[in-house]
Amino acid sequence: MAYDTLIVEVSDHVALIKLNRPDALNALNSTLLSELAAALTEAQGNEKVRCIVLTGSEKAFAAGADVKEMSSKSFVDVFGGDLFTPETEAIGRVRKPIIAAVSGYALGGGCELAMMCDFIIASDTARFGQPEVNLGIVAGLGGTQRLTRLVGKSKAMDMNLTGRFMDAEEAERSGLVSRVVPAKKLMDTAMEAAQAIAVKSQLTTMAIKESVNRAEETTLREGLLFERRLFHAMFATGDQKEGMGAFLEKREAQFRDR
Ligand code: HXC
Repeated sequence: MAYDTLIVEVSDHVALIKLNRPDALNALNSTLLSELAAALTEAQGNEKVRCIVLTGSEKAFAAGADVKEMSSKSFVDVFGGDLFTPETEAIGRVRKPIIAAVSGYALGGGCELAMMCDFIIASDTARFGQPEVNLGIVAGLGGTQRLTRLVGKSKAMDMNLTGRFMDAEEAERSGLVSRVVPAKKLMDTAMEAAQAIAVKSQLTTMAIKESVNRAEETTLREGLLFERRLFHAMFATGDQKEGMGAFLEKREAQFRDR
């Protein structure tokens, strides 16, 4: 499918989705968000796709929700229309792993979109922030929730209350991003990580995604039980036999998602 605000390429089992509103630093307007939901749903349904990489431009992953589009909206518009809920729910339904490759600004809804992905690889130019406070609003896509779980209360309060930006080094140190690489290597690193995931059993990678996400939403006791039962369930798959057999035979596993 062709999109106005995205560039989507599928190669070697990886869907690369690039946010493409360069004139607005990839600000998330309603077209972009609904196209992103559609592209991710399409990638989920495409059997050739085993991992997804979401990225922006060198200057901006995304500078937030589109302020021009939002500024004149009323409470009735945003609450009545449930602004952003259908799109974010569609993103949350994607079972395949999604890597955010972040360069430049990831602010407001941009930072929140990166946090909706399964992990973030950042370039050394990345700048994260929740500057909604400067606009007279609070974060609305996870900036007070996911960020708090990722970096802890103190930094989440600091970011949301002062609106300051965090550089890539601080973001890695505080657990927001999994790795920081030089800007020139960002896309190669993200695509290599996606390739590493794409050759695994998809049954396993989807189970891992569900299990890690469960850690955010449940008690340790329930989470451990959920993980243990998933672990048990993997023994019903051919990929468990293949993975362990290949190890014992000292060869590469050939997973078949069965
Ligand atoms: C609409 C935006 C935008 C945004 C940038 N632009 N961010 N348009 N919405 N969020 C546009 C600018 O208006 C400008 O367009 C062009 O992109 C380039 O931006 P500049 O400001 O000229 O660039 P620069 O001086 O380099 O500054 C970059 C920046 C700044 C620091 C990122 O643009 C900025 O502060 N942007 C807003 C960041 C923000 O407040 N994000 C949170 C939004 S609220 P023109 O046409 O003038 O050239 C949000 C809520 C989420 O995200 C929760 C929803 C539920």
